[in-house]
Amino acid sequence: MAEAGAGEFAGVGAIVTGGASGIGAATARRLARDGARVAVLDRDADGAAAIASEIGGVAITVDVRDGDAVTAAINDAAERCGNLRTVVNNAGIGDLRPLHTLDDKMFRRLVDVNFSGTFFGMRAAIPLLLAAGGGTIVNVASQSGFGPTRNEAAYSAAKAAVIALTKSGALEYGPTIRVNCVAPGFVATPLTALFQDQPEIFEPIRRSTPLQRMGTAAEIAEIVAFFCSERSSFITGQTIVADGGNSLPQAGTDEALARLGDLFGAG
Ligand code: NAI
Repeated sequence: MAEAGAGEFAGVGAIVTGGASGIGAATARRLARDGARVAVLDRDADGAAAIASEIGGVAITVDVRDGDAVTAAINDAAERCGNLRTVVNNAGIGDLRPLHTLDDKMFRRLVDVNFSGTFFGMRAAIPLLLAAGGGTIVNVASQSGFGPTRNEAAYSAAKAAVIALTKSGALEYGPTIRVNCVAPGFVATPLTALFQDQPEIFEPIRRSTPLQRMGTAAEIAEIVAFFCSERSSFITGQTIVADGGNSLPQAGTDEALARLGDLFGAG
């Protein structure tokens, strides 16, 4: 169990949605490591309970698609953790298929979890953080929110909406609440497990990523912790893209231009 009471989040209550797995679990661990009492909110009850017991936190089962349930869960978490100062809206799902093959059910699911879930989390957190006299909200978007990634039309649009919500929150609730966002690229979590072991899919991604690898959940959690802390005290409404540089090159074009560069270099 993490040592309670030490570190920059000592005495602080924090909530992480989607905290049972991947980036959310790493974030819950990271905040707890520095003293936060963390509520792990997730639809996966067993996963949430496991992480909560590991870090000495609180587990609450909730589906972030249900606005009333999110409000109830966040109020409950605030009461049980005490001194709520930070809420991380991280729960999300992905899906990969061409736009015209996305049926109503999957389209709504992508929008409801990724976008509505973040909105519901912010809406519930804001009155509590205002009443506390200050706090931080950190949303988790995606590199896809800045530029579309193929076969992720609804996901990309929902994540773009999360980036927009972040700016609205910052505008409306400063100076009391700071609202920021992390936009990860490819990170090794259960969400990306499908292709991590498939070289024909993973290799082109690696090649077109300047840092030549996937990120780790702990690396994303570190940015969330920065936004939760006083170390980012003059930053609000911003999104940090943590993608190893993957969104910089346009993969195919970049490879072609590299070859062209070789030709010029040779001549
Ligand atoms: P993950 O699949 O490991 O964890 C997601 C967690 O959210 C799970 O514990 C799941 O039970 C929970 N969750 C899903 N739907 C929920 C719902 N309706 N209500 C409550 N909880 C729900 O995924 P990962 O990779 O940790 O993703 C976390 C966030 O990071 C997501 O918002 C994802 O879109 C974002 N992200 C992840 C990237 C990656 O490469 N892994 C890249 C870009 C963004």
